[in-house]
Amino acid sequence: MAKAIRCAMVKIVIENLGRKELEVNNSSKTVLNHLHEHYLDWMHACGAKGRCTTCKMVVIDGAEHLNEFTKAELKYIDRGELGQNERLACQAIASGDIIIRVPHAGKLPHMNYSD
Ligand code: FES
Repeated sequence: MAKAIRCAMVKIVIENLGRKELEVNNSSKTVLNHLHEHYLDWMHACGAKGRCTTCKMVVIDGAEHLNEFTKAELKYIDRGELGQNERLACQAIASGDIIIRVPHAGKLPHMNYSD
């Protein structure tokens, strides 16, 4: 009898979008991929190539569940354009629950933020 394979579910909470919760499969997809798959608009000017910082997210909790900083993120950290509690949504991959916020600079005019 085939053994059932369980996929760990990961919860992504966007604190200032009314604490919107996304339940996603633990996979190799980036946080930005998951946001878009749930029809959440999130700024991503360079098309998720790690060449801008418009997809920046503030990590409130669960940073330890994210992958190591990518080369692109390290470049922005060196330049002082990415803070200690910030990640690029197009580079970050969550293997456990995280709570994030949309920073002021990344807010889109048609979205209703709760702060
Ligand atoms: S979309 Fe440009 S760095 Fe993420």
